[in-house]
Amino acid sequence: MAKRTPPKTVLITGASSGIGRALALEYARRGAHVVVTARREEELARLCDEIEASGGRADHLVCDVADPVAAHAVAKRAEAILGSLDMIVANAGVGASAHASRLSLEDVVRTIDVNVRGAMATLMGAIPIMLAQKRGHLVGVSSLAGRRALPGSADYSASKAALTVFLEGLRLDLSRAGLAVTDVQPGFVETPMTAKNDFPMPFIWDAAKAARYVADRLERAPAMVAFPPPLRFLTRLAQLLPFSVHAYATRRAARGSSKRTG
Ligand SMILES: NC(=O)c1ccc[n+]([C@@H]2O[C@H](COP(=O)([O-])OP(=O)(O)OC[C@H]3O[C@@H](n4cnc5c(N)ncnc54)[C@H](OP(=O)(O)O)[C@@H]3O)[C@@H](O)[C@H]2O)c1
Repeated sequence: MAKRTPPKTVLITGASSGIGRALALEYARRGAHVVVTARREEELARLCDEIEASGGRADHLVCDVADPVAAHAVAKRAEAILGSLDMIVANAGVGASAHASRLSLEDVVRTIDVNVRGAMATLMGAIPIMLAQKRGHLVGVSSLAGRRALPGSADYSASKAALTVFLEGLRLDLSRAGLAVTDVQPGFVETPMTAKNDFPMPFIWDAAKAARYVADRLERAPAMVAFPPPLRFLTRLAQLLPFSVHAYATRRAARGSSKRTG
């Protein structure tokens, strides 16, 4: 795959912390004008100040992606600020759950509202803009946890699997129109989401390293960016295992904890 022109205008959801924040800093450092969105306006304003203090360009928009109408409109709002939309990163997500016996309906609905409906609505809002431009890169942040269910993670894994398949569908439909679509599948990354985990998180990366890796790989607009490589390999292997072997291995790894992964 050939390298593409680096994006000059980028919208990132879920940019008030963690991976989204690190990606905003990375793209601003690479010369893009970024629009960052999330619910916590103070964090977004602080991020924009930090980017502008180091010579970059950033604006923020408050948007709760659990409201699908608001999520769908955010790309248009960002385009009005940026003048175009080279890349959108649907990164906003939630990930706190429990063993299936303790899952609440409220938590499951929230996971689906943010990770599935929110991400899909966000990306859908960018499609007409990018089709009119005849270019653009749609990026969704799913998870290696979407490759196979993990203990205490039924709704989260399901939400990320749904996003992965949605992104594949977008790629099938839109690649001939000149639009790129990439599914980013992180393993463990140090963020507020994983800070609450009380179990070992193998091969964990810091958010800045993850952002650099993702931005480097996105230059070639692959179908998927999955990392870190050892966990990418192990989760690919897990997809080939019968349920009994997968269950044995993951229960052993998760023993002593009912909390959830990233
Ligand atoms: N960290 C990991 O190990 C890991 C691994 C695989 C995948 N991921 C995925 O990576 C993405 C980023 O996660 P992270 O680890 O960086 O977690 P994080 O630090 O908790 O960041 C999550 C971001 O999503 C935003 N968000 C949550 N609910 C929202 C809503 N209703 N509307 C708008 N924004 C909302 C949060 O902002 P506000 O609270 O300000 O709204 C925050 O900026 C998520 O999709 C996550 O599932 C993370």
